[in-house]
Amino acid sequence: MCGIIAYTGYQAATPIIVEGLRRLEYRGYDSSGIAFVQQGQFRCIKAPGKLNALVDKLYANPNPMLATCGLGHTRWATHGAPSEANAHPHISNDRKFSMVHNGIIENYREIKAELTSKGYKFFSDTDTEVLLNLIAECRKTAPDNLSAFQRAIKLAHGTFALVLLCGDEPDTLYATRKSAPLIAGIGEHENFVSSDVTAFLAYTRKVIFPDEGELIRITPNTCTVFKLDNLAAIQKETQRIEWDAQSAQKGGFKHFMLKEICEQPAVLRSALAGRLDLAGGRVVLPELEGLKSLKKPERIRIIACGTSYNAGLWGSSLLEQWGNIPCTVEIASEFRYRKPLLSAKELVILISQSGETADTLAAVKVAKSAGCVTLGLCNVVGSSLARETDRVIYTQAGPEISVASTKALCSQMALLALLALYWARQTKTLSGEEIQKHLFHFEQLADLLEKELPEMREEAKDFAVRAASARNIFFLGRGRSFALALEGALKFKELSYVHAEAYAAGEMKHGPIALIDPEFLTIAIAPADEMFAKTFSNIEEIAARSGPILAIADKQGGKNIRSEQQLNIPRVPEPFTGFAILPLLQLLSYEAATYLGKDVDQPRNLAKSVTVE
Ligand code: M6R
Repeated sequence: MCGIIAYTGYQAATPIIVEGLRRLEYRGYDSSGIAFVQQGQFRCIKAPGKLNALVDKLYANPNPMLATCGLGHTRWATHGAPSEANAHPHISNDRKFSMVHNGIIENYREIKAELTSKGYKFFSDTDTEVLLNLIAECRKTAPDNLSAFQRAIKLAHGTFALVLLCGDEPDTLYATRKSAPLIAGIGEHENFVSSDVTAFLAYTRKVIFPDEGELIRITPNTCTVFKLDNLAAIQKETQRIEWDAQSAQKGGFKHFMLKEICEQPAVLRSALAGRLDLAGGRVVLPELEGLKSLKKPERIRIIACGTSYNAGLWGSSLLEQWGNIPCTVEIASEFRYRKPLLSAKELVILISQSGETADTLAAVKVAKSAGCVTLGLCNVVGSSLARETDRVIYTQAGPEISVASTKALCSQMALLALLALYWARQTKTLSGEEIQKHLFHFEQLADLLEKELPEMREEAKDFAVRAASARNIFFLGRGRSFALALEGALKFKELSYVHAEAYAAGEMKHGPIALIDPEFLTIAIAPADEMFAKTFSNIEEIAARSGPILAIADKQGGKNIRSEQQLNIPRVPEPFTGFAILPLLQLLSYEAATYLGKDVDQPRNLAKSVTVE
């Protein structure tokens, strides 16, 4: 995910900004850049790749860099490839403003069209450059830089954290945020703005957290907060950060995995950003335009590995149910060698967080050689999968550092549900009103999850201690909950090294039930959906054989399940319940592994990106 660090004070800005950028590296990025004003002119130095490439360029610069104010950014590409042109900071056409940005300006196309008609030129593919030039345009009639910033921000839709530097106020920073983090650091005759407190923690622990709907103006000795609406100045309390720099890299969380689990509401917002047209009852996916087999595929085949495969399995039922398109799901390492019979009319969807998984990449080749159109669902911009598939849709989950995949799955499920709703409209399987209702529920999910996560975590702790004492566990579910059971078992075994397997609950009596005895634990996923009665019977069959049961169910339905303990699924409209079950399963594994003292972020024998077969 992108990172921002900006400084204004009495010291040379560049080394402080470079140091801040280093502390932001863990977030993952593909280019970086710095801008400052020197002798009345903007200087902007950017480089694709690692930070050292930027540092080499900076210090090869013949001019002394004595500016005491500047902007720094690490970019994790969303709009446009990772390149020097797309790297931040950007400079406005009139060279009076420079800006860094995290997030997405959803209406940048409309703004760009309007600015283009006024003669503006764009040198990157970014939404940031568009908003920056809108600020420059607003400045033509605004009384000052603050008002110009305010006017432009009011016109921008989307999620953003922004810091602006103006050529005629070379030691002043303007900043704002919407659904993206931004923090001001308050020092002695020097101040900071960053997307992550880590970046300036070495200098100050005093911070101000601007809220949404606020703008801040920072000089070496002042930090003033204004209301976005009317520019009235507001008093904001300074707070003190107690974390050490190391743990702050994880945003105060003990492990990256926990941080990433807790980021899922934000991940959902980001996956849906710009893709929901609530008023029109439509999913907006420009990535699917212009190719007939993407507009309305005859058949779909999803191919992936591990957690990404589980996402495919979860989504396939929605693609059939809503999209009315036959859909099968395959494990990439099997698919690539089994000489599959493929029809050129099939759409092949490849899912991968990293975009570098060797088996999934090999599957692209097999599908392409059979003449199929390929669509990648991928998290890493510019990855091999993104380059090799005919089209790619980015999941926009931000970098996932923990080896165990968590938030990436949430974003993959979100995209599959969006695709199902997109095709439901094309195939007219759902009415406009039905699609609108689902979109509305979808949009509410992030807020609901955000509210429920703290309680989910507390509940998962007790449940995890019991599960951690088991030697063998079955994770059971039916329908979409079977895909989640697979994920629950995968997460549990990879983190805690306890033997865990998933079964479709209806399969138990065809063999696995022979293993059930008072020692063999079953974790049953039984949401109140159309499969509840069936799952309930399967659980009864286990209880009848003295098998201990932990139930993941909603409060009401779970009452009748003969379980030792129950983990409550918060109320979520179907078919989105999976988005609430998923963090419960992830937290369960996380808590069990920490209880057992395992290396949560880097489990033994595993790598984040499996680039060999
Ligand atoms: O990067 P990918 O999504 O292609 O990775 C696929 C699997 O290696 C991955 O999902 C793996 O199963 C997870 N790390 C498990 O938590």
